[in-house]
Amino acid sequence: MATELTLGIIKPDGVQKVLIGEIVSRIQKAGLRVIGLRLTHLSQQEAEAFYAVHKARPFYGDLVSFMIRGPVAVLAIEGENAIARWRELMGATDPAKAAPGTIRKDFASNIEENTVHGSDSPATAAVEVPFFFRTTELHRQG
Ligand code: CMP
Repeated sequence: MATELTLGIIKPDGVQKVLIGEIVSRIQKAGLRVIGLRLTHLSQQEAEAFYAVHKARPFYGDLVSFMIRGPVAVLAIEGENAIARWRELMGATDPAKAAPGTIRKDFASNIEENTVHGSDSPATAAVEVPFFFRTTELHRQG
């Protein structure tokens, strides 16, 4: 298994519900490392660009509006098999279908306000991490 780097976002609903500490704690307790972390409030242009892959989907406009509603926390997460493991911690996109104990099952309201985002593949992570972090903003200890 390889060491991977992936992007996490704690979406506006998660920040509003004061879940940053809880979610970072779950990531670290799972043995993954947070090597980049920042609060930001996305502009419409940034949200549209980040979710450009979903442009043709009916939920695109609502998704962009939701993502700019308030600040988000962006995280660069590193570790063995980090992409799949972060997605396991998040749970299914639709919280109604998410497994017990996952972040979305525990905290998300619905398929749109689903609290967290994670890159879905190495190719996506390779685009999404640099979208938010310069190499100099990633810090590995030891
Ligand atoms: P995320 O993992 O950030 O990737 C795309 C986002 O679009 C997804 O989480 C949801 O927030 C949203 N999304 C995906 N599918 C739907 C859907 N069917 N209806 C509304 N929003 C969706």
